[in-house]
Amino acid sequence: MAVAALTFAAHHILHSKPKPSSSVFLLNSTTLKTTITFNNFISISSASPFFLPRHKSTQTAAVASSSSSSVLELGGVKITKQDVVKDEPTNNVPDLIFTKLGLQLHRRDHHPLGILKNAIYDYFDTNYNNQFHKFDDLCPIVTTKANFDEVLVPADHVSRSYNDTYYVDAETVLRCHTSAHQADLLRKGYSNFLVTGDVYRRDSIDSTHYPVFHQMEGVRVFTPSDWNNSGIDGTLYAAQDLKACLEGLARHLFGAVEMRWVDSYFPFTNPSFELEIYFQEKWLEVLGCGVMEQEILKRAGKTDNAAWAFGLGLERLAMVLFDIPDIRLFWSTDKRFTSQFTKGQLGIKFKPFSKYPPCYKDMSFWINDSFTENNLCEIVRGVAGDLAEEVVLIDNFTNKKGMTSHCYRITYRSMERSLTDEEINELQWNVRDQVQSQMNVELR
Ligand code: DAH
Repeated sequence: MAVAALTFAAHHILHSKPKPSSSVFLLNSTTLKTTITFNNFISISSASPFFLPRHKSTQTAAVASSSSSSVLELGGVKITKQDVVKDEPTNNVPDLIFTKLGLQLHRRDHHPLGILKNAIYDYFDTNYNNQFHKFDDLCPIVTTKANFDEVLVPADHVSRSYNDTYYVDAETVLRCHTSAHQADLLRKGYSNFLVTGDVYRRDSIDSTHYPVFHQMEGVRVFTPSDWNNSGIDGTLYAAQDLKACLEGLARHLFGAVEMRWVDSYFPFTNPSFELEIYFQEKWLEVLGCGVMEQEILKRAGKTDNAAWAFGLGLERLAMVLFDIPDIRLFWSTDKRFTSQFTKGQLGIKFKPFSKYPPCYKDMSFWINDSFTENNLCEIVRGVAGDLAEEVVLIDNFTNKKGMTSHCYRITYRSMERSLTDEEINELQWNVRDQVQSQMNVELR
């Protein structure tokens, strides 16, 4: 899938460039932005899946039902389902996403994500004499202020849209990156820290995209005494230290690989870079990083300091390090997956236990102005859960009347068993039904 290939690199990193599917909410005027976003969202209510009664989605096959009265504890905060999934226009969190809250795969020592997190911890503990504070249990429900404003994400940035981010209400989101905790931890006085956590993004469906994934954020703050005798300024000092630190980390994880630095852009850093390594005959983007914007430090009361920050996606690295071919596997509770990994062992290669046959179903419809691929994928996931392997646009044309038709191919496949024809047909009918009624498109 061409779009997927392009967005693979972007998926775990919050870039400035809008993705094609997100452009509906890309607005230009700074002051009006937030209001317009909400107004747009509300005005398309009849076509949006999120305005329909929640019980609509309970007819779905694969979504685990979680008791609405049970209380989750996330980073010391007590949460019920009603706190997160609300039948209100400013909320777009589906049931399926709620079921992922609190699973914290990165805190399981025998899980590939936990093994990777611990290997990164080892690197920092050893090389920085245990100076880095480690957080891996901060609540993923954060304010828009923390997720966006405090890390200087512009008011018209695509990541703020309802199409890209899960909103609990107009001022509260499921964090879309671990950078959401930077400012708060700086204010609390931490100057060397790592934050690992589950992050949430509305996205397409394929082997490398899943609406919940895991990131690690690193921050290190310097004082003038650190760079005064070096003959270079704080920014350059931080940039040099950052590069040395992350090159060491990449070697710690991947061995003696070839590396390169690519200039990049992030709202929170300047200059910004990406580190790529040459691994298995391809350049692989490992992380995004840079010298922290002075404004972030200033607002945290650190006027005279300089700092670096980085953010990395644990799944993309773990897929490469453990040879895991599909991102859904991280969520598998099948013993044939879970039993293959051992605490503290980074080098283990996953042996696929079997490949069950895929089943392809095509569907065509005339789209409308509010159509987005992320909304379509949300419906497909709501119906089929992890049985949905891929959703690809395979045909696209506009007729003389100006109507645009899209044909999507949905691949259904279980990682754990063979699916029956009846089961898949029922899923597909459900998808068709919900796409038609919730997205208000005309099936062809
Ligand atoms: N927050 C970025 C993302 O979601 C990743 C990132 C890039 C974090 C650069 C950083 C950084 O701290 O300096 O993709």
